[in-house]
Amino acid sequence: MMRLLSVRTAAGVLLATSGFLFCTASQAAATPSFDEAKAKALFKRNDCGKCHAPDRDKKGPALQKISKENKGKSDAEDKLVKQLTSSPKVKLLDNGKEEEHKAVDTKDVKEIKNLVAWILAQ
Ligand code: HEC
Repeated sequence: MMRLLSVRTAAGVLLATSGFLFCTASQAAATPSFDEAKAKALFKRNDCGKCHAPDRDKKGPALQKISKENKGKSDAEDKLVKQLTSSPKVKLLDNGKEEEHKAVDTKDVKEIKNLVAWILAQ
């Protein structure tokens, strides 16, 4: 599905998910690099929303905070994919308890990267 994205959003996604650090905003806008509906469906199916809201911390950090902290870093995609596939120990923000982070229920790297790109565009 092709979607028109704002120049800012698309540029952010490209910056965050690829090595095209010097890509111009107009090029970025021409190539939307994630499928929002698919990303949201995966997010919902995996109950990520139990702990992550778009703009406020719950048990986990707000998606906008995750995006802000990682966007534009060359290792952002790798780091977030790893977070969603390797069940690292995390500390819940509300009660400080440690547990294994939820891994997504798909092994399809393309789907996982699509979700990561969407998170980085929040
Ligand atoms: C039980 C609560 C919980 C659930 C469910 C959960 N998370 Fe998390 N998530 C956390 C916590 C806690 C952290 C780590 C916060 C920290 O260490 O600062 C985290 C971290 C992350 C990070 C990494 C942030 C970073 O900057 O490294 C991403 C990305 C993420 N979660 C996405 C997801 C997705 C996608 C799902 C659904 C598959 C999900 N989370 C499900 C609680 C949860």
